[in-house]
Amino acid sequence: MDKFHDPDHMNCDDFTQADFFEYKGEDLFEVKDYFWAYYQDAIAKKYMVYGNPISTSPGAEFRVYDRYLGAERDFLNFCSYNYLGYSNHPDVIRTVQETVGKYGTGAVSAPLLSGYYDLTRQLEEAIAAFKKKEEAVVFPTGYGVNLGVLSCLLKPGDTAVLDILSHASIYDGARLAGAEIKVFSHNNAAHLEKILKSLNHKRVIVCIEGVYSMDGDLANLPEIVEVCKRYGAKILLDEAHASLIFGDSGRGVAEYYGLEDQIELTVGTFSKSFGAIGGFVAGERKLMTYLRLYARSYVFSCAMAPHTAAGILKVLELFGNDKSCREKLWENTFYMQRKLKEAGFDIGNTASQVIPVIVGDDRKLRELSKSIYSKGLYTGVVTFPAVSKKRTRLRLSMSSCHTEEQIDTCISILKSAFEYP
Ligand SMILES: Cc1ncc(COP(=O)(O)O)c(C=O)c1O
Repeated sequence: MDKFHDPDHMNCDDFTQADFFEYKGEDLFEVKDYFWAYYQDAIAKKYMVYGNPISTSPGAEFRVYDRYLGAERDFLNFCSYNYLGYSNHPDVIRTVQETVGKYGTGAVSAPLLSGYYDLTRQLEEAIAAFKKKEEAVVFPTGYGVNLGVLSCLLKPGDTAVLDILSHASIYDGARLAGAEIKVFSHNNAAHLEKILKSLNHKRVIVCIEGVYSMDGDLANLPEIVEVCKRYGAKILLDEAHASLIFGDSGRGVAEYYGLEDQIELTVGTFSKSFGAIGGFVAGERKLMTYLRLYARSYVFSCAMAPHTAAGILKVLELFGNDKSCREKLWENTFYMQRKLKEAGFDIGNTASQVIPVIVGDDRKLRELSKSIYSKGLYTGVVTFPAVSKKRTRLRLSMSSCHTEEQIDTCISILKSAFEYP
């Protein structure tokens, strides 16, 4: 039966969010009426836990406006990407404050015009040195890096071969280019090889992630690199969730596996462990020079604010001098993983600070998120299109700021929501 027949009588329990993504009415905007009614019903049933304004820094606890209470209240924060606590580190905050005083609040221009500041250049040089690449280009967002890099290098007729769990920005970049997109099953080098073997041209890029953003597992880099090299395919490795976490020096999963020199394009974001916003691509100087002029999300977007660059430079300095926050993050991560497994939760194959708690069904996810929210726990609530419809989940983001007591509280809230003993 067609579920979309009367926007005045919508029961949100009959729908998943995916339904509205797929809906195509006669009028271009028709979906809004159905989605509005669904949304209102979800609010009335207290399922809607997204979009509540936060009014403190993203520490282990934060204050959130609770629309159901009509007031602010404190939550345990297992949702932010503040993995190493740099977003609210006093030295980083001080640096940013001082820089705002000197440079003002924003770059107020695109980088090729007057948005390129000495601090942005310093950051690019620091990132290139950190990543051991010739050159780096800093973008205003991580999303924009994959979008701009892939859409300007690939042309119609070229092929982007993506791990099926690749981030939306990778899919979108390849789509925008008009390239053919082929996906291989997650981390499956044999499947990747089958695809590469079937292609009769060499204009191919394989896109993978160091740490997969929704599952927290690592790229099967040794096997994937070996296959790519055999078939002459270029590699884009997105280290968004791996930078500062993996590898002795924190350069990511490529460093961890000792394969950095095999990766043509290294991508990262500043919105995770660096505690800020922005992204970068690093690689051969000639290629970076080309990207600077042709990656449209770089050329046609306002540049990163100078104070953001200053804050990230400070993070690099702090991390270079003292990696104890990373040790604490690992301690917290292992503790959480062990406790969740012991309690019987399905946490997939995570090997990192990104820990999924697989639910698998949109309706159940709603009940669970409502329950944990009412008990003061904030986690990622992840449904389609961020993950497939059968792999919905709560996603926990660990931080070096968490205490063992906070982790225990998080677990006991999860247990009671899942009705585990
Ligand atoms: C793997 C990956 N790449 C790119 C991005 C986009 O980065 P940003 O949020 O900094 O734009 C994300 C964000 O979550 C990500 O997980």
